[in-house]
Amino acid sequence: MTWPEAPPQAGTDLRSRYTAGDLHAFTPEEASRFVPRGDGDPQSDETLAWELLYRLEPDLYDRLASAELLHPGVVAWLPQDVDRIAEVGAGTGRLTLELIARAREVVAVEPALPLRRILRRKLAAEDHGERARVTHGFFDQLPLPDDFADVVVACSAFTPATERGGEGGLAEMERICRPGGCVAIIWPNHLEWLAARGYQYVSFPGAMSVEFGSYLEAVELAGIFYSGSVEKVRRLGKRSVPFELLDINPPRDLAFKVLAG
Ligand SMILES: C[S@@+](CC[C@H](N)C(=O)[O-])C[C@H]1O[C@@H](n2cnc3c(N)ncnc32)[C@H](O)[C@@H]1O
Repeated sequence: MTWPEAPPQAGTDLRSRYTAGDLHAFTPEEASRFVPRGDGDPQSDETLAWELLYRLEPDLYDRLASAELLHPGVVAWLPQDVDRIAEVGAGTGRLTLELIARAREVVAVEPALPLRRILRRKLAAEDHGERARVTHGFFDQLPLPDDFADVVVACSAFTPATERGGEGGLAEMERICRPGGCVAIIWPNHLEWLAARGYQYVSFPGAMSVEFGSYLEAVELAGIFYSGSVEKVRRLGKRSVPFELLDINPPRDLAFKVLAG
């Protein structure tokens, strides 16, 4: 077998990347949410490892999110030409950058300071005429008034777990959405939970791949984020890797609810 380039060594996978000694990266407020008893272990708690990634290696996270592009149908589905959109858990702006053309005002809420910095830098490079702003906040305590937005959205961020949204977070998203407005959870992972709360489901068809910057990056990032599939990525020998080869659902779907008007 010949490789397009010498096969690189894979990086340390996310689960082994951080230790309990890294928990100091959390602010006291973050620690009270993500490690309430103070004794979390990112080597056994993968969601904790993700939270440390956002704070310790935000550029590494941004490289991954930039490769996992959303299905164009998802973005096209979102209402456009509205007054205000609020996004919660905006990260480094995979969705936010798509929203600025759709509303006169966009507010991106993101708890992790290092991700907010990257998002602000990206927005500063866009010509959006001060329409977008980035602010600190959590799902269950959104820093926005009642009925604020026409559309409230979260992408790859909301889950039914209390620390990542839960009942309180969904209620907050609905609180800041105006009557007749729409709350949308993009790339949802608990469909029955959302359906039980009145959310409808939409999915867009077609083949989807993770578009890494190069074959070398595909092997490097697969070694960190999809370590069970890294040998398949090596054998594929390409920078564009089908989602199914990585054993993950592609970001082709959303759950939404139009609030009573
Ligand atoms: C997988 S990232 C997705 C980021 C971005 N929406 C995207 O699609 O690229 C998950 C995001 O949720 C944020 N997050 C985690 N817990 C949160 C909470 N309780 N409230 C709001 N955001 C939260 C993280 O800081 C992170 O930015």
